[in-house]
Amino acid sequence: MRLTVIGCGYLGATHAACMAELGHEVLGMDTDSDRIACLNRGKAPFFEQGLDDLLATHTATGRLRFTDSYTEAADFAELHFLGVGTPQLPGEGAYDLSQLFAAVRQLVPRLNGPAVIVGKSTVPVGTAALLTALVRELSPAGDRVEVAWNPEFLRESCAIEDTLCPDRLVMGFFAERTWAESMLRQVFAEIIEAGTPTIVTDLATAELVKSAANAFLATKISFINGVAEICDLVGADIRRLAEALGHDDRIGIRGLRPGLGFGGGCLPKDVRGFMARAGELGAEGMLSFLREVDAINSRCRERMVDLAREQCGGVIRGKRITIWGAAFKPGTDDIRDSPALAVAQRLHENGAEVVVSDPMALDNARKAHPELHYIDDPIAAVDGADLLLHLTEWAVFADIDPRRLAMHAAALKVIDGRGALDADRWSAAGWVYRALGLPSLPDDREQVSRRG
Ligand code: UGA
Repeated sequence: MRLTVIGCGYLGATHAACMAELGHEVLGMDTDSDRIACLNRGKAPFFEQGLDDLLATHTATGRLRFTDSYTEAADFAELHFLGVGTPQLPGEGAYDLSQLFAAVRQLVPRLNGPAVIVGKSTVPVGTAALLTALVRELSPAGDRVEVAWNPEFLRESCAIEDTLCPDRLVMGFFAERTWAESMLRQVFAEIIEAGTPTIVTDLATAELVKSAANAFLATKISFINGVAEICDLVGADIRRLAEALGHDDRIGIRGLRPGLGFGGGCLPKDVRGFMARAGELGAEGMLSFLREVDAINSRCRERMVDLAREQCGGVIRGKRITIWGAAFKPGTDDIRDSPALAVAQRLHENGAEVVVSDPMALDNARKAHPELHYIDDPIAAVDGADLLLHLTEWAVFADIDPRRLAMHAAALKVIDGRGALDADRWSAAGWVYRALGLPSLPDDREQVSRRG
């Protein structure tokens, strides 16, 4: 099939490359001509495992091309995916939908005949209905241009696998058995035939599935981090607790990792966007529930700074603190709402000399936080450190020998914000190992149990 993908950021570029991999003729469109030039050279403007290979393969055969022309996009196909960004409005929780509406305003008047416009961007529920009305108003082909919603569930760092082998497909349409549905079923035929659960809904439900999915994932993380706050008060162990909970199939261990909480370009923004929409709709209960999910997540960062202060003997000012991690999670160079950098910045504001090391995200971090120091080599970064914080769980950090590292640090103190270091190994190498929701000393637990 021939199709376009409007908006070639993280979501759009990955989707375009994966659609070409499925055998379709794909034209990606973006208003950023530098990005287009980069993609046409077969390179992604960000890091995602395997994406450069897919782009290089399919741009070389001509099956995948990129343009900055809406006219070319409108002429190219009858099926258009919308993958433009829907960031958070500055200073507000709500989404900024300006790029989405601008794309429709530009594309639709240029369409010569019937077409299907498929939204993939994350939006507040009700957006697809507004876009349907706008499309009807602008389209020369009237209601023969249909709007459908097909939310995306890919995770950064495994975006290609998540797109080509998703755990489900969700497709929302304004009516049953539309032309749009038959078009989308053809696009995803290979994935559907592989047995992927395919859920067909109305437009509003499809939009809400995405909001609810990310809100649930965020809730699971904040739940376990909220329990970690209680563990801290009684000297209990959040990791053993999470492990025990996870054996219950109804709860499950995935997405229940305690630590520094969630960041990135999606979960924090989507919790706030869902909260804003719930408020607009008058769903006060959901609004206050999500507010607490967000608040627990923010508290993780504050608690990490408090724990760092405690480990620095009560005074952060003048201390040299090394932070392993800048990306919001491993496997990406994305630093949007990175918990690691948020903590780094707060420690800097409190007067610490902060040194950050990360295998992939240092260029982005340098641009966003020129006030911090950066050292590529994670071992050299620990030279003279009074405290080491492990805040993004890259495998290279877990592989470092704590005995060897001990020769570099000024004080042997480590806080593991992601629970990915081997606590026994670090303790055996002489380090004081601390984490949120973990008792500091074995006898803390004894004292508490003796107290009953
Ligand atoms: C998230 C969702 O997982 C995807 O399903 C969704 O498609 C995507 O947002 C989106 O809306 O585009 P992503 O932001 O790539 O994907 O990252 P996750 O792997 O979900 O991690 C988010 C954050 O939560 C990271 O900072 C991670 O460190 C943290 N996390 C994750 C935890 O603290 N504990 C966990 O158990 C899992």
